[in-house]
Amino acid sequence: MEQTKWYKDRVFYQIWPRSFKDGNGDGMGDLWGVCEKLEYIKSLGCDGIWFSPIYPSPGADCGYDIADYMDIAPEFGGMEAFQAMLKRAKELDIKVLMDLVVNHTSDEHEWFQKSRQRIEPYTDYYIWRPARPDGKLPNNWDSNFEGKAWTWDEVRGEYYLHLFAVKQPDLNMDNPLVREEVKKILKFWLDMGVDGFREDVITYISKKEGLPNDHLFPIYKGMPNYNHGPHVHEYLMEFKQDVLQHYDCMTLAEAPLVSPKKALTYIAEDETGQMDMMIQFQCQCADCLFTDYLPTKFSLRKMKRAFSSWQHKLRGKAWNMLYLENHDHPRILPRYGSLDYWKQSGKTLAASYLFLQGTPFLYQGQEIGMVNWEPSDPEMYEDVQTRYNYAHSNLNKPLDVRLKKMWRSSRDSARTPVQWDNTANAGFTTGTPWFYVNENYPSINVAQQEQDPDSILHFYRKAIALRKRLPVVKEGEYREHFPLSSTQYVYSRQMPGEKLLVVCSFTGKVTPLRIPKGFDLSHAEVVLQNYPDASAATLQPYECRVYLW
Ligand code: GLC
Ligand code: CA
Repeated sequence: MEQTKWYKDRVFYQIWPRSFKDGNGDGMGDLWGVCEKLEYIKSLGCDGIWFSPIYPSPGADCGYDIADYMDIAPEFGGMEAFQAMLKRAKELDIKVLMDLVVNHTSDEHEWFQKSRQRIEPYTDYYIWRPARPDGKLPNNWDSNFEGKAWTWDEVRGEYYLHLFAVKQPDLNMDNPLVREEVKKILKFWLDMGVDGFREDVITYISKKEGLPNDHLFPIYKGMPNYNHGPHVHEYLMEFKQDVLQHYDCMTLAEAPLVSPKKALTYIAEDETGQMDMMIQFQCQCADCLFTDYLPTKFSLRKMKRAFSSWQHKLRGKAWNMLYLENHDHPRILPRYGSLDYWKQSGKTLAASYLFLQGTPFLYQGQEIGMVNWEPSDPEMYEDVQTRYNYAHSNLNKPLDVRLKKMWRSSRDSARTPVQWDNTANAGFTTGTPWFYVNENYPSINVAQQEQDPDSILHFYRKAIALRKRLPVVKEGEYREHFPLSSTQYVYSRQMPGEKLLVVCSFTGKVTPLRIPKGFDLSHAEVVLQNYPDASAATLQPYECRVYLW
């Protein structure tokens, strides 16, 4: 079937279902709630949704531990609510992406239950290793979430590998039967009318033969032996050839530790490509070293280098996925922007990425400038990764210091319920919310920003409308100007007949406006701004302007 690459013209909205909107009053977000809000999503200019997992799951990793791939969790409304939602999404011309999590399953998945009892054909569905005579673990790999990557299973009398939580055993993708299961899952959802998949840590699915010890990495030990493993491209090509290419669908690969060059080995737009777009992490590392748990001071230059290198290196060869936030990182505004200039920096952040080449994604709440949740008690954290990290780091530091570190690093900082209005529980639920609502909801919420034409919400609407109206945003050549500036991000997009210049200040100081050579402002129109007057020769704190020729 012809792949029309429809995703290049769309803007996606990521729903993390537990915290999006509760429709039945039980305190947990669900698909009835999503249905209620589809028109809101569309009103932003978003015409695609990526759903974080909505399958039946015990919830050890908030749904990323799947117990049944071919059903919808009852708490989210089951298959009936899903199909109603899908129908309504189609009426509104909103594409729907499911989260495909096949590096691992839940330990409560039937496959694992049978595998641990050696019931065929499931015996080799997972990665099992016997005990060693020296009493050591099968190898020295760390899990990404909870200590070592191996857990002993009493039932089977062997260790199983889990690169994430203990309750997330890794599938053995080298087993052709497992790959057939993946293809069945893909077909099942595509036949139901879903438009594609976001593929969870998909670069981890092929482990180096023999699972050798890792002597390279100080943290996340083992990663070089399973990230971009020996058969990953072969397996992904199999999924493409046997299933995906027979549908007009798209795939988005999540890829920790990936360079643009490496990305091309997955998403090149020629017959070698196996997927369409990639979630890279470099754009998240302007204020940390590789993980949010190793924070550093925000460096605008680092951010610009990340943005620009992906723009340049993928141009003409592959298509960028653009994002600032998702459910795995604290909110972007307090990290790359400034709480002192909350509204201005929220808008500047939007302008800094919405005019790049690629397909933008917004994460729920980003469009109203939601900020990090700051719990007063570590027990309030829910996330498995956060809880493990809290229990194992900075043990000699006082409570307030440890808590502050968690606010900056925890994924839960961005997982509180969406703040819809200023009524109880931010309008998220009429019941008792499953998780804490950020206390700032009376001042940061959708209803208030709908009323305020100058809100971050309306800025997102305008920016998205603009990007959809201007062909140069899709096609134009990207250039970064003044790359050495540590206070301004200036980039242009250019094609015959249309030219765009985006100027973003990332400082609380007033700075001189610098316009690159060849851009004559006297002929330009300011098409987007976040201060009333966009004619001054200086930029106000976190000011942004978009000029059009
Ligand atoms: C991905 C998901 C994350 C999840 C992990 C394990 O990184 O985005 O939320 O915890 O994979 O599935
Ligand atoms: Ca509910």
